Parts: sequence; structure tokens; C-alpha cells
Amino acid sequence: MVQGRKMKMILLLILQIVMAATAANVTYDHRALVIDGKRKVLISGSIHYPRSTPEMWPDLIQKSKDGGLDVIETYVFWSGHEPEKNKYNFEGRYDLVKFVKLVEEAGLYVHLRIGPYVCAEWNYGGFPVWLHFVPGIKFRTDNEPFKEEMQRFTTKIVDLMKQEKLYASQGGPIILSQIENEYGNINSAYGTAAKSYIKWSASMALSLDTGVPWNMCQQADAPDPMINTCNGFYCDQFTPNSNNKPKMWTENWSGWFLGFGDPSPYRPVEDLAFAVARFYQRGGTFQNYYMYHGGTNFDRTSGGPLISTSYDYDAPIDEYGLLRQPKWGHLRDLHKAIKLCEDALIATDPTITSLGSNLEAAVYKTSSGSCAAFLANVGTKSDATVTFNGKSYHLPAWSVSILPDCKNVAFNTAKINSATESTAFTRQSLKPDGGSSAELGSQWSYIKEPTGISKSDAFLKPGLLEQINTTADKSDYLWYSLRMDIKGDETFLDEGSKAVLHIESLGQVVYAFINGKLAGSGHGKQKISLDIPINLVAGKNTIDLLSVTVGLANYGAFFDLVGAGITGPVTLKSAKGGSSIDLASQQWTYQVGLKGEDSGLATVESSEWVSKSPLPTKQPLIWYKTTFDAPSGSEPVAIDFTGTGKGIAWVNGQSIGRYWPTSIAGNGGCTDSCDYRGSYRANKCLKNCGKPSQTLYHVPRSWLKPSGNTLVLFEEMGGDPTQISFGTKQTGSNLCLMVSQSHPPPVDTWTSDSKISNRNITRPVLSLKCPVSTQVISSIKFASFGTPQGTCGSFTHGHCNSSRSLSLVQKACIGSRSCNIEVSTRVFGEPCRGVVKSLAVEASCS
Ligand code: GAL
Repeated sequence: MVQGRKMKMILLLILQIVMAATAANVTYDHRALVIDGKRKVLISGSIHYPRSTPEMWPDLIQKSKDGGLDVIETYVFWSGHEPEKNKYNFEGRYDLVKFVKLVEEAGLYVHLRIGPYVCAEWNYGGFPVWLHFVPGIKFRTDNEPFKEEMQRFTTKIVDLMKQEKLYASQGGPIILSQIENEYGNINSAYGTAAKSYIKWSASMALSLDTGVPWNMCQQADAPDPMINTCNGFYCDQFTPNSNNKPKMWTENWSGWFLGFGDPSPYRPVEDLAFAVARFYQRGGTFQNYYMYHGGTNFDRTSGGPLISTSYDYDAPIDEYGLLRQPKWGHLRDLHKAIKLCEDALIATDPTITSLGSNLEAAVYKTSSGSCAAFLANVGTKSDATVTFNGKSYHLPAWSVSILPDCKNVAFNTAKINSATESTAFTRQSLKPDGGSSAELGSQWSYIKEPTGISKSDAFLKPGLLEQINTTADKSDYLWYSLRMDIKGDETFLDEGSKAVLHIESLGQVVYAFINGKLAGSGHGKQKISLDIPINLVAGKNTIDLLSVTVGLANYGAFFDLVGAGITGPVTLKSAKGGSSIDLASQQWTYQVGLKGEDSGLATVESSEWVSKSPLPTKQPLIWYKTTFDAPSGSEPVAIDFTGTGKGIAWVNGQSIGRYWPTSIAGNGGCTDSCDYRGSYRANKCLKNCGKPSQTLYHVPRSWLKPSGNTLVLFEEMGGDPTQISFGTKQTGSNLCLMVSQSHPPPVDTWTSDSKISNRNITRPVLSLKCPVSTQVISSIKFASFGTPQGTCGSFTHGHCNSSRSLSLVQKACIGSRSCNIEVSTRVFGEPCRGVVKSLAVEASCS
């Protein structure tokens, strides 16, 4: 007995020793986060766990690690974890513990941004909508009911993390947590209460005793010891509010989010790399890509108004989990180059000197002889040649060169050594036997959703109701229905003239049905104003207005109160002018949600499905259903909704989100070749103008069975579901790269110990590697050493070209998965003296 107890005590002691050995002490100082006494240079990237599936997480995390990340940053999504008050969900895509543990297993750290306000283009900024109905509540200010709820949820998350021993102080991977989010951007709107709210948030967070530091982003007045951090496209000019805090960048936007009705934003990697290098050049030691993998807004999680279902973000890993090249590869090289400077970076502040107009050197030099330098050309127009420590360096406009030994260039942000890899969708028919999708009509069944009021829980109310207050966001849909009597002598019935129904709504979509027929519709972010010519009949008429939200607002002061839905005025005017009737103040009947939603058509069996032909198409308000076999292979799957209008779709009962292929991007502002030089803005580089904002919708592989999958959609506006097709996304077979004689040699030729010299590769190298391990380079479509022009897919020869280009590249590459070719006259001969030459290659793998 005594022996047993002794054994137990000894075991406990051993356990404590082991624990103490693995627990990390995380603090910070002026230079950096300090982990176990050592300052760290950290590269971080955001992956939001509910925007992919647990099946995807290990691969995403591994690709992040391979890309040179040390930290994965994620928000915590309150609305997903507590969909109803006190009913928690930590399952599936919301299995936060599993996500954090997977990051830990990969050997990476976690930055946990609890918020619990997160913005994030997430519905209602991450707040559960029930929060809005807590009596007396005022969001994000010094308000007791709000603070109570915020504290309760924050504590819940911290406790969960502690229970699972996930803080670094307990041996886990979490080295940093965030409270609130960018409150400093909007706090002036909250008056004096803002200050006390921020103080309270800080002390509440600190009281939770996580054992690791906390940050507040975009919060210049963050109280000590909270680290105030920067968010933006550039943060090199940022300084924290105390000399005892490190310079940290929590959101470096790798692209931008897409909205329905908008063209697709992209951010050139040369500019992104420039921003990162400038940050480390000017004393930063932690930066995070927002997003590193953007993912998908499944279900009704997308924020608003009008955020699209895709949250690709032009991130280094694309929505489907494939590497976006050369973005991912160029940033990996950048991270290597920065890490080669780590010893010098953490030792000291940089000494910054001017090398001429728009030219700047930063030198980190230690007493022990380590030296790292960053040379920048922040000019937007002209390349420069600078002299630094007696050597001359070529610096393209808007670029930074990194010299880990203060002599040799390991990396320049504008000189890409990674090949462009295309990705492409391959169409596959829905039909198991591969027949054309046009034949699919017979395999579809349908149910008509009634127009107007059909549910028993409909209710009457005088006047127009705001939508979020009415639906509590249980559904996107709210019916506003009115019955009215028109006497025969009213002007609305004048021969040849129509009445005009005038509707004003806060958004985001309105359909107006008159006597059961769709008469008009419109959409808008926060204001819709419609004048719809309508035909009324003598006697009874019904006006049924369907108002649809597309993501609740997530950003701005008082975003929770902007509201949605038809708040009026609503009037009926005679087309000839003259009299007008106010309808807003009348007695309306309301129905929250759809009949088909109540009967669970998306998830449960129903005998109501009609499979008789003809299948009704191009009619509003129809539920459709079909079964299909999964596209073959293991590649990521997408549904192309072209042919349909707008709605929500489910695969095997899982909501893949809102689809809206008829939402067309505006015509202005697009460019295929955006100049990366000069300050980036969210609307600087756009593509896809005049085309549907989003036609392809991700269906995670793990939601599919080989055969017998169910697809259900609710089509609001009218479309033809038989036109739907499936695609699988592949890394394409094309590789392209252009490397000049002035490019640095591959950063991989540096190792931290051979940093100073002994590098036998001193010339630039063009490296190609087929992305799929079973493939080899099978043909060289283009090769020119000289002055080739153009970009991938459209390379052409310039006036100067080595006649050996093609045969040499073929010889070096064909039949191998990868090849490396030195870019020099030693290899290709001298086709034209006195010119800096480049080698451009387009190859294909099979
Ligand atoms: C920031 C915010 C993020 C995200 C981003 C835009 O202001 O902190 O949550 O919304 O903007 O993608």
C-alpha cells in the first residue's frame, strides 16, 4: 500500500519533470517573441479551420511547413462553436482542439486569435446572432451584458485549450493569443466607453492566465503588457506603443476577398514578398500571411454583405488546397533567406542608411561577427545599381535584396526562381456512365416551394419588420406578404397603364411576386431601390416579397445594427403619376424561412419529390435533387453551377454554401498584367471583369462516396440544373520560368553553416520540377537563352537567342522529374555581348 503510494508519487514527480522540460516559456522584449530565453524570427500564416475539412488539415499544415512557416494563425469562430446559447459544438470542421494538435504534431506553433469578434468576412463578424437578443446588450463597448458574454466565451476557449495542455506554457503549441480585433480602427465611434472597454478586454484576457503573451491588433492604445500589432498591406513603418514590445504584423493580406458581383482580386507575389522583406528590413520579427490558405465559406458562414462562397484570397495555397505557384515557392525562398539572417536579426536593431534617392540599406551586425543586410529600392519606376560595402548590386524598382552575410544576395523579391504551375479544372459529367449532362433531366426530381405564406408559424404585424430581428438569421429567407383589394375604379387599373410597385430594402436580394408570378427582383449591399411595373386585377391581389440575406455584415462600427430586409418605403404608384398608396404601414404577414427548410429537404428523405418529366426549369422557387457518382480520382472536386441562378446547395446533407453564378462582376478595373511596382490596394489588381464572380464551388472529397451521392439545391431565381457539371482541380502539366543572369543563385545553395562562403554555385540556375511525383518532363515547348519576351504560355524569342537553347534544355530535362540549368554563357555560349540575358523555358510534364 505504502509502496504503491510511493511509486505513484515518484511517477508524478517524473511526469512533472517531463512536463517542465517540454513546457516553453514565452515572453517578449523590444526585438522579438522570446521562447525559452531565445528571441525568434517567426513566419506565420492564417488557416481558418472551418474553411476546410479535418481531412484537409494535415496536408494544408504540411504544405505550410514546407513553405517555411513556423506558426499557424487562426481565429476562433464563436458562431460555429456556440450556435445556440450554451450549446457548444467542437465537432468536425469546428474541432479546434484537433486542429491545434495537428499543428503541434507538425512541429509548428499556433497563434490563437480568440476575438471573440473576428471580422474575417464571417457571418456577423463571428458573433452568434443570438447574442443580439441578449437584453440590454451593446456590442464591443463597455456594456455589462456584452462583457459577460465575451468573458464567458473567451474563458470557455482558454479553459478548453488549458485542459488539453495546448498553451506553450503547458508544453503545447500556442505561443500567443489575441483578444478583440482591430477595435482601434473604429473605436472613435464608441466614444469614451471605448477606452474602458479596451482596458477591460486586456485585463479580462490577462486574468485567464494562459502563461503566454496576448496581442491586440490595430490597437495603438493597447494597455501593457498587450502587444499592439499591425494589419495591412505594408507594415514596415509601424512601431509598437512601447519600446519593450516587438514589432509584429498579424495580417499581411496575401490578396483580398471576393464579393458576389465583384471581379477577383489578386496580389502579385513580387509585391507581397517586397512588403515582407521591408518589414524584416525595418526591425520586424513576426509576420503573418492573412490568408496562407483562405478556403471556402461553407454553409451560411460567409460574412457580408455579399461575400462570396469562395474565400480563396489569392493565397499561397489555393481554395482547394493546391499550391499556387510561383507564389508559394517564391515566398518559401524568401522565408529561407530571412531565416539565414536570424542570428543577426534577433541580436540588434538595424542600422538604416540611404544609398540614394529611394534606396535604403539596413544592416544588422552583431558583436560576434554576424552580419545581415537588406537593400531596398522603394522607387516605383527605375531599377538601380547601388554600391554597398564596395560591391555593386542590381536592385529592380520596388524590390529588396537580402544578403545573409552582408555580401552575397540570397534573394531578391522581384526575381523569381520558382516556376509558374498552372492549375486547371477538368470537366466531368454528373452521370455515372459519362453521358452528356444535357441528358440528365430525367435523373432530377423537384419540389416547388410555395410562393408566399405556406407555413403555420406565419404571423401578422402592422408595418415592415427589419429582417435580422425577425429571422434571428435562422434562414436567409423572409417572406413579406400583403393581400389587398383593388376596386375597379382605381387608377391602377387604367387601361394600358400599369401600376408601379416601389420597394426599398436594406438588402441583399428582393424578389417581388404579384398574384403568384415573379414580377421583378433586385439586389444590393445595403440599399435596394426598385420600381417594378405590375399588373393588378380588380378584387383581391397578393403582393409577396421574398427578402434574402447574403451574409450578415462583419465590419465597421455598429455593424451589428445595420440591419437587412425590406424596411421601406413600399408604395404603389400609378404609372401615369398621380396617386400613390403607402403599403409600408399596412398589415403584413411574415414567414421566416422556407417550407422546404422546415421539412429538411436538404438532409432528410421526403416522399414529396416529383420525378415526372418535364423537369420545370427557369422558374423561381424550386428545390431540385439528383444523385451522382463521385468524379474519379482523388483530386479536389468542384461543382460548376453555370446554368443555375442563385440559391443554396447541399451534398449528402452538407451545405456547400450559397451559389450565385448569375452574379456578374462589373466591367471596370481589370488587368491581366498588373504592375507590382507601387503601393498595392485591394482594387489594384483585378481579373474576371464582366464574368460571373463565382461559378465553381468546392465539394470536399471527404463528403463524397464513390457512388450514390445526393445533390440538393434550392433555386431561388430560376435556372436549369441539368446544366450543372462537375470538375476536378488538377495541378496542370505546364511549367514556366524565366531566370536572368542577374538573378541570385537558388537560395537552397545556402546552408546556415556555409553562409559566409564555400558556396560552389555562384550563378543563377533555372530549376524545374514536375509537381506530381509520378510525372517526368516530357517536352520543352519553349526555350530561349537571350532576350526572350512575354509571360508563361506566350513566350517569344527576342532579337538575341542562343541557337543551343532548345537542345540544351531538352537534354537536361526530358525524361526527368526535375532539372537544373545554369543560366550563363558558360552553358549557352554568347549570343549577344553587353546585354543581360535570360533563360525562359516552358515545359510540360506527363
Ligand atoms: C481585417 C480584419 C480581418 C479581415 C480582413 C480583410 O480588417 O481584421 O478579419 O476581415 O480585414 O480580409
